[in-house]
Amino acid sequence: MSQGKLHNKTAIVTGGAYGFGEGIVNKFIREGANVVIMDIDSNNGIRVQYSLPRKCAIFVRGDVSNENDWKAVRDTALLNYGRIDIVVNNAGIVNRIQSSLEVPEAMFDRLHSINVKSIYHSARVIVPVFQQQGGGGVFVNISSMGSLRPRANYAWYAATKGAVSAATKSLAAELAKDNIRLNTVCPVAGETGMTPLILEQPDTPGAWSKILSGIPLGRLATPADVANATAFLASDEASFITGVELPVDGGRSLN
Ligand SMILES: NC(=O)c1ccc[n+]([C@@H]2O[C@H](COP(=O)([O-])OP(=O)(O)OC[C@H]3O[C@@H](n4cnc5c(N)ncnc54)[C@H](O)[C@@H]3O)[C@@H](O)[C@H]2O)c1
Repeated sequence: MSQGKLHNKTAIVTGGAYGFGEGIVNKFIREGANVVIMDIDSNNGIRVQYSLPRKCAIFVRGDVSNENDWKAVRDTALLNYGRIDIVVNNAGIVNRIQSSLEVPEAMFDRLHSINVKSIYHSARVIVPVFQQQGGGGVFVNISSMGSLRPRANYAWYAATKGAVSAATKSLAAELAKDNIRLNTVCPVAGETGMTPLILEQPDTPGAWSKILSGIPLGRLATPADVANATAFLASDEASFITGVELPVDGGRSLN
């Protein structure tokens, strides 16, 4: 049997308990990786861990905006698997669709704390591990079409995803000397736990029609779409690719 493209790699996947992140965890396991799932949702985190072959995945309850939680996840990965090769910064939140002028300051701060500060903590906690191990390392940060093609009523979410993409490129330039690669994946809308917040009228039959009309391939992003792109960028097949923003958008960015 051929070995997967992530054979013998250890990955940390944040937000891996649900949505796109769960798809990424499943794909990484199929490609031969061991995965530490970092998420605040213990019920789903444990559900995902026990749906996978024993010892391949470990759930750690952790908040990506908290440095100590990152240190605990790092230590768990090193204790159980001996090394860390890949970090997927996938956990993120979105605000309810509404006038950007009415988003409360506390929500603005939460968006930045979870979507952007997570990138900061992950870099500061995990890059030294990559440097000590030698041989490099990979970050795949899940940004959004909100960065490349922002839509109305999402200014502050889009701003966080713009920050994710910019930080990723800057770090890619800075850390290339250590063979540490960083790229972003930018999905178009998909049906996940975020769905009720991103649709104007979630429970109506035509709820998705406005979004779908802007996607040339005529469908939403699935967890498998996001996972396939993420696994490629995380793998050695992408060993000469760093600092890119890869749209997974069915052509949305062409419109
Ligand atoms: N769904 C979309 O339409 C869409 C489109 C573009 C980009 N994205 C991005 O994809 C990523 C995944 O989103 P999703 O749609 O799968 O959402 P989701 O809500 O289905 O899943 C997000 C996961 O992150 C976890 N999480 C939230 N806050 C956390 C924290 N502070 N610490 C640790 N874990 C936390 C949640 O518990 C959940 O398991 C996000 O970064 C999101 O911005 C989503």
